[in-house]
This record gives sequence, structure tokens and C-alpha cells, in this order.
Amino acid sequence: MRLSRSSSRNRFRQYLKQRKQRAAQERVHEHVDERAEAKRAKRAKRSFVGLFGAFISLLTGFRGVVAMSLVTLSVSVLLGLLIPYATKIAIDYIITDSPGPTGLPDFVGEFSAERSDRMRLIWMLGGAMVTVAGASVIIGMWGRWQCTRITKRVQVSLRRRVFEHASRLPLHRIYQLKSGGVSSILREDAGGVGDLIFSLIYNPWRAISQLIGTLFILLLIDWRLVVGAILMIPVIWFSHKTWITKIRPLYRDIRTRRQGIDAMSAEAFSGMRVVRAFNRRHAEAARFTSEGHLLARQELYTWWWARGVEIIWMMLIPMASVAVLIYGGGAVIDGVLTIGDLMAFSAYLLALLGPLEALVASATNVQNNLAALDRVLDLLAEEREFEDTTPTMTIDPTLVNGRIAIEGMTYAYPTQTKKHDATDTGEHAEDRRGEPVLSDINLEIEPGETIALVGASGAGKTTLCNLIARFDDPTQGRITIDGIDLRDIPIEQYRALLGIVEQDVFLFDGTVRDNIGYAKRNASEADIIAAAKAANAHGFITDLDLGYDTRIGERGVRLSGGQKQRLAIARAILADPRILILDEATSALDTESERLIQHSLAGLMRGRTSFVIAHRLSTIRHADRIVVIEDGRVREVGTHDELLEHDGRYAELLKMQLEGEDTEEARAHAK
Ligand SMILES: Nc1ncnc2c1ncn2[C@@H]1O[C@H](COP(=O)(O)OP(=O)(O)OP(=O)(O)O)[C@@H](O)[C@H]1O
Ligand SMILES: [Mg+2]
Repeated sequence: MRLSRSSSRNRFRQYLKQRKQRAAQERVHEHVDERAEAKRAKRAKRSFVGLFGAFISLLTGFRGVVAMSLVTLSVSVLLGLLIPYATKIAIDYIITDSPGPTGLPDFVGEFSAERSDRMRLIWMLGGAMVTVAGASVIIGMWGRWQCTRITKRVQVSLRRRVFEHASRLPLHRIYQLKSGGVSSILREDAGGVGDLIFSLIYNPWRAISQLIGTLFILLLIDWRLVVGAILMIPVIWFSHKTWITKIRPLYRDIRTRRQGIDAMSAEAFSGMRVVRAFNRRHAEAARFTSEGHLLARQELYTWWWARGVEIIWMMLIPMASVAVLIYGGGAVIDGVLTIGDLMAFSAYLLALLGPLEALVASATNVQNNLAALDRVLDLLAEEREFEDTTPTMTIDPTLVNGRIAIEGMTYAYPTQTKKHDATDTGEHAEDRRGEPVLSDINLEIEPGETIALVGASGAGKTTLCNLIARFDDPTQGRITIDGIDLRDIPIEQYRALLGIVEQDVFLFDGTVRDNIGYAKRNASEADIIAAAKAANAHGFITDLDLGYDTRIGERGVRLSGGQKQRLAIARAILADPRILILDEATSALDTESERLIQHSLAGLMRGRTSFVIAHRLSTIRHADRIVVIEDGRVREVGTHDELLEHDGRYAELLKMQLEGEDTEEARAHAK
């Protein structure tokens, strides 16, 4: 543990250094007018006003209610301010026989003659104070309740927006963010944005109402004292400007770090089997702890920045009270002010400084929440997948033939560019591409044809299928369906044509029925069972304890690799797609099950344009055409027989595989 602690200290030092550099860089970049740079800078440094505007636009639909609750808040605050004034009335006009009730109604003077009458007056005044206080509380509570409700509604609607946006980001960005990272933004940051209603609107408004109301009442008592109070406003402004704005980037960094930690721990737990298998539990825990230490250091560092302002204020209030006591006490001795005035003034001074202090104290909170908003806006500003293409056509799924043409296609995966802080997943990598994984692919696939893709591991088969499924667009060239560029078709429409069984089968945490039915909304029980039967899965499903109601995935039973594949095949069968992609769909099955499924898969592929990837070449021998891919290029195309005759790469692969099987068999015999 000592090791991890010292390393977190070093990393923290590094972080501080980077922060300084970044600040310096930003200062330099302010004068560089490159477009990309400006765009990035804008994202990195949103002004307070910009953030405030963005937040107000988030409140669309709630603005009426917010305005209403601010009105009630003002009323409640003003009512509350009457109470100290009542004390002044009690002291000056009822309890003491001081200067006399100038401007008071006559009956008050008549009452105040007798002691018993004075008691009655105090009682009446007390009753009025309680009533006013009660009204103030009730009215105030109503507004506060409304704002609380809106906070929750904003959180819910923002989380929905972030979720929707994040689910439409390009896939490589999603991998970069990691599942834990996305959920961190959804939970922490979107939640923090909701709190802005209080920290940015409600609380400041209360402070302002109280400020204005108090200043007004103070004016009635003694204007000179008011001038003194107003002089304090520049102090607030100054402390705000210099101190508080420094804090937001710190909070931003903390949130980014927390997102990284969330992503990391989510990953460690989803890969717990590997963690245990390689005995890396301690290493993972140490990594987690070290990140935690680093986060704690950042938080403690920020704590001091946050307290700086508060310390000034904590000193300011007693000093102001003393000033009032000295000045006002002198005035009372000279007979210029009454004791009631002095008391009221002290009470109002607290009423004046109290909200200001609360504002300053919550200013750090505001910065924290603004940092959250900043990050959420960053995510929402990221380009969605295929945002640069605009669909110009719509297609009718029932009329699609399924002729697919790949024309001069080259593809390279996006690569990550390193930024100043590797853990800062909040900043997104620029869209750079690496080496082409596929080069100059030309293929014409007839409607209903079955194409087998063959090639060594890493040749680019999955990548080619991903492009046909349009998980990304080609970097050069194009793919068309029935002569229409995929980029011209709305993505949802195109995906509705697809059925995919991926190499890494993914099943959701739900029942068997849910997982098969995922392909088709409102699938009937009969449909699901038929699909399961076609995928040769019905048998093992009915053997499960709860049959189709058995939970699988995170919180249920674990299935074998072959069972998962069969569920995935059933899912694809249920989708009833025009275009079918089977990427190693039967690789985990034994020969027996595979033969059974092959039969139904052959039925399934009939009349659909299909792409099949299989390392076991025996399974694809009946494909209409076989495409051999090597190093991202098409090496050979033809039927099984043609390619055998050609005696090229395919024949070679086939020979090697047959030999392998032979020797395996021989070995088995020898035992
Ligand atoms: N998300 C990705 N980002 C960057 N490179 C990738 C990504 N996925 C795959 N690659 C690279 O692209 C190349 C082709 O990968 P692909 O998955 O298409 O191979 P494959 O032919 O399907 O192999 P296998 O038979 O092992 O499944 C590989 O070199 C791989 O490293
Ligand atoms: Mg693959």
C-alpha cells in the first residue's frame, strides 16, 4: 500500500504541474485563431454566462413554475423581514417610554399609558408576528416544493437526453467512454445539473430579495449605515471574480477523475473472472485505491480553494457587527437613534450578511454543479454517429431486394490521440484514422446470395461485416443496397433490415424469452418458440429450471458458449431480416449441434442476402460464393469447386485444415 500512496502523491504533483501548463497553454491559445483550436477552446472554457444561458434553456417547459416559485419566495422573504421590525416597535413604543410614537395612530398612544394595556399590545404584536411568520413559512414551502419537483424533473429529462445522445455516439467513442464512465456522467453530472435550480436560481434569488428588502428597511432607519453596507458589495464581486472562477476547472477535473474511477471499477467487476484467474485481485484493488488517493488529494486541494472565500466572510460578519455597535452605540448615546433602532439595525445587518454569506458558501457548490453542466454539455455537443451524412431517401423494407455492392471501399479504424491527461476521457479524441484495415474492396452481391468470408484471424472479416451493418462508414468508396448509398438511407430504416449474430455473443440480463424477443417488439410466444426451435435451442431451454422464464446474464444462470450462440441465432431468426450476418455463429458448437443448426440456417438464409464467416471451412462449402480475404484485401472469389480448381489460397487453407483434422483423428486413434 505504501507504494500506491507514494505514487498517488507523485501523480498528484504531476497533475498540479499539468494544470499550470494547461492554464499557460490556454492563455497562449487565446490569441491563436485556428478554427479547430477555437472549437476545442470553446468547449474547454465555457463562460459563466454561456453556462447560465444553457441551463435556462434546459428549463424550457418549467419556466412558468420556476418564475411563480420565485415570486412566492420573494413574498415569503419579505414577510419574514417584518419580524425584526416588530421588535423595534415593541422596544421603542411599548416597552420603553422613549421619544414617543411619532407617526403612530393615536390609539396606540392611549393604550400605552397603562401597564396592562402595554401587555395587551405586546400580546397583539406577538400574535401578528406569529401569523406573519406562519404565512411566510407556508408560502415559502410551496415555492420550495415546486422547485424541488422541477429539480427532479430536470434530472430525469436531462438523464434521458444524455442517455439518448450517448447511445447514438459513434461506437469508438462509446468504447472510449466505457460503460462505467457513461453511467458516471448520467448519475453524477446530470444529477448535479438538476441541483443548479437551487444553487443557481433559488438560493441567489432568496439572497437578492432579502438584500433588497433589508436595504429598503435599513434606509428607513438610517441611510448612512446603508451606504456602509453597500460598500461591501464590491468586496463580494472581487472575491467572486478572483477566487471562485478558479474553482470550476478543479471540480471539472475531480468529476473527470471520478468518471475514470467508475469506468475502471465497472470494468474490473465485469472482468472479475479474468482478474481472479490471473490472481490480479490485489493489483486491481491497489489500482483502485491509488486512484482513490489521487481523487482524495484533488478533493482536499480543492477544499482549500473553496474555504478561502468562506474565511474572509467569517471574519467580515463579526467585524461589521462591531462597526455597527460602535457607530450606532455612539448615535444612541447622542440621542440620534433609539435603542430599538440599534437593535433592529443589528438584526437587519445579520439579515443582510446572512444571505450573502450563504451565497458565497454555495458559490463553490454552484461551481461544482456548473462543472457538471459543462461536462454534460460537452457530451451533448459531441457529434452523433453519421451526423455528417444526411439521409435523402427512404426505403420500404418490404420492397428491398437486397443487392449489395461494395465499391472501391477502404476503411481504417479511428485512433485515439493522446491528450495531456490520459485519464481525461471527458476530452474526446480528434477524429484521426489509423492504417487501413480494409483496402480497395469491390464486391457485388446478388439478392438472396450467400457469401462466405474466409481468411486468417485479423484479416478484416468482422470489420467488413461491421461496415455492411453500417456500424461505421467507409473511409473511402461506398456500400450500396439496391443501388442506394447506405449513407443516403436513415440508419434506423437500414438496421431494420439486418439480423446479426456477432462473434462475441452479448446477452442482456433478463429471461431467455426477453433475450430472444429482443429482436422484435411484440413477438408472440409462438414466434419465440419457433425461432428457438429453428436455432436448435428449444431443447436445452426447456431443460432449464424455469424454461423460457429462466434469468440469464448478470443475475441469472450462465450459459455455455454454444448455448449462448444458439440464443443469438434464435434472436436473429426472429428478426426475420433481409440481410443476415453470421460472424462465427456456430464456432462454439460441437459438430453434432452445428450440423443440426446448419440445416435450419440454410433454410433461414434462403431468399436473404447472407454473409457467413467461419473458420471451420466445412460449414461454408455450400455458400454461393466464397470470398478469401487476406490483409484487408480480396484475394479470391468463387464457389467452393472453382476455388479448389484454382488451387490458390482457399485450396491451401482447406488442405491445412483437413490435414489438421487428420492428424487429430490419428492422434485420437493412437490413444
Ligand atoms: N475497434 C477497432 N479499432 C482498431 N482496430 C481494430 C478494431 N477492431 C479490429 N481492429 C483491427 O482490424 C483488423 C481486422 O480485424 P477483424 O476483427 O476484422 O478481423 P477478423 O478477420 O474478423 O479476425 P477473426 O477471424 O480473428 O475474427 C485487426 O488487425 C484488428 O486489430
Ligand atoms: Mg472476426
